[in-house]
Parts: sequence; C-alpha cells; structure tokens
Amino acid sequence: MADRPFIVLNMASTLDGKIGLPGKRPLKLSSEEDFARVHRLRAEAQAVVVGIETVLADDPKLTVKEEHVPDGSSPLRVVLDSAGRVPRGAAVLDGSTATLIVTAEDVSGTFPNAEALRCGTGEIDLLRLVGHLAERGVQRILVEGGGTVAWSFLRAGLVDRFHVYIAPWTMGDERAPSLLAGNRADSPGDMRRLRLREVTVLGEGLLVTYEPAQKGGGTEEGRGG
Ligand SMILES: NC(=O)c1ccc[n+]([C@@H]2O[C@H](COP(=O)([O-])OP(=O)(O)OC[C@H]3O[C@@H](n4cnc5c(N)ncnc54)[C@H](OP(=O)(O)O)[C@@H]3O)[C@@H](O)[C@H]2O)c1
Repeated sequence: MADRPFIVLNMASTLDGKIGLPGKRPLKLSSEEDFARVHRLRAEAQAVVVGIETVLADDPKLTVKEEHVPDGSSPLRVVLDSAGRVPRGAAVLDGSTATLIVTAEDVSGTFPNAEALRCGTGEIDLLRLVGHLAERGVQRILVEGGGTVAWSFLRAGLVDRFHVYIAPWTMGDERAPSLLAGNRADSPGDMRRLRLREVTVLGEGLLVTYEPAQKGGGTEEGRGG
C-alpha cells in the first residue's frame, strides 16, 4: 500500500511481558499518567482497533475521556471479530460513538449501533482493512491489543510505532496472556527486529517506544503528531 495510515501499537505489560491475569481476566496495569497518555493517543487517531478477545475480557469503551483530553474526539472503534461474537451489550455497541465490527466474509447479520464490514476468510485480512480505513479518510490508527492482534499487526509489518508501558509489577505465571501472542518462533528468522526510539520514566513505570528496524510503512507527516 503506497500511502497507508500511520499505525501506532500501544500496550501495557508487567516486567515479565504479561498483559492480563490467567484466563484472560482483566488487569489494570496503567498508572493514571499512562491512562491520560492513552487517551491522548486515542484523540490523535481516527480509528482504534482491538481484537474480540479483548472486548470479551475487558469490555472496553475505547472512547476519549473529557477529563484526560478536553474537547478531544473519539476515534472510530474497530473490532476484529471473524465470527461475529461481539456481545449485544458490549460497551463498544453503546452508540456513544461510531463502531465498525469486522467479520469474515461468510458471517451475516447486523450489530446494534455498529456498522459491519466483511473482510477476509478466516481471520481478518489486515491489509484490506487498513486499505478500507484509508479510503474512509483515516490517517492514523491506534491498535490497542490484545497480544494476538498486536502480533498480527507486527508480523504483517503494519506497525510504525510501538509503545509499551512497563508497569513495576511481575506476574510469574506462564498461563497469563503475553504482550505478543502468535505461532511458534522456531528460529531467529521468525523474530521481528525493532529499533529503540525513546525510553521515558512515566510515574512508577517505564514507557518504551520502538519503531520498525526498516523504514517504509506509514508516514507521520501531517498526521497529527
Ligand atoms: N495490557 C494491555 O495493554 C492489554 C490490551 C488489550 C488487551 N489486553 C488483554 O489481552 C487479553 C486478550 O488478548 P488475546 O491475545 O487473547 O486476544 P485479542 O488480540 O484481543 O483478540 C484476538 C482475536 O481477534 C480475532 N481476530 C480476527 N482477525 C484477526 C487477525 N487478523 N489477527 C489477530 N486476531 C484476529 C480472533 O478471534 P476470532 O477468530 O473469533 O475472530 C482472535 O482470536 C485479555 O486478557 C485482555 O485483558 C491487555
């Protein structure tokens, strides 16, 4: 894609790279300072993407809170949901701002207060989705997880900036979901190399920002910061 949107991945983890409790039970890792930063990231984006497992686990609203960003507008909420499993009472279907539920081609039906987009067979075709969002005028996409969606975007070369807020906690349980969750990595060739851009102390945690080792994805010029 010649001029795709700029894609920011943002996650919060423990020191040992865990993003939730075992069984995908929700876990608050962000400090107040970090929450404010995430809301600013949302306000800078025109679309925010999460996976269906995050919706099922956390029921996030994904809007911009006035207390964090006065007069900020909320991005389009995008849920990757191949099988159309989003619960009818989910916060993303509250109608408070626009929502796009992205399913596989063979899923029919509608969702209350949301638009449906059929995109791919099996899992969602991310390139097609990004192209669709670009056609709608989206210039900046924020991906908020979970680990499976985060890894899909990274693996596809669709991340231009990756922020990890590392909270001063350890988990010590291998059953807990990880920052990035994908298939096996059998050799160094299966890994992805990133370039360190910035490390900042944020409250009691660390904010670490990476960018791709090789340039060539979305560009930030004129794209909101
Ligand atoms: N700390 C943080 O920053 C943070 C942020 C978000 C979530 N979380 C935590 O992360 C956990 C959930 O993460 P998760 O990895 O299990 O799930 P996830 O990434 O939220 O969702 C993954 C699901 O999305 C669907 N999907 C459709 N197309 C996809 C594609 N192209 N690539 C990837 N996924 C696609 C698949 O389900 P279908 O096949 O049914 O479509 C897949 O199983 C929860 O514990 C939540 O609390 C933590």
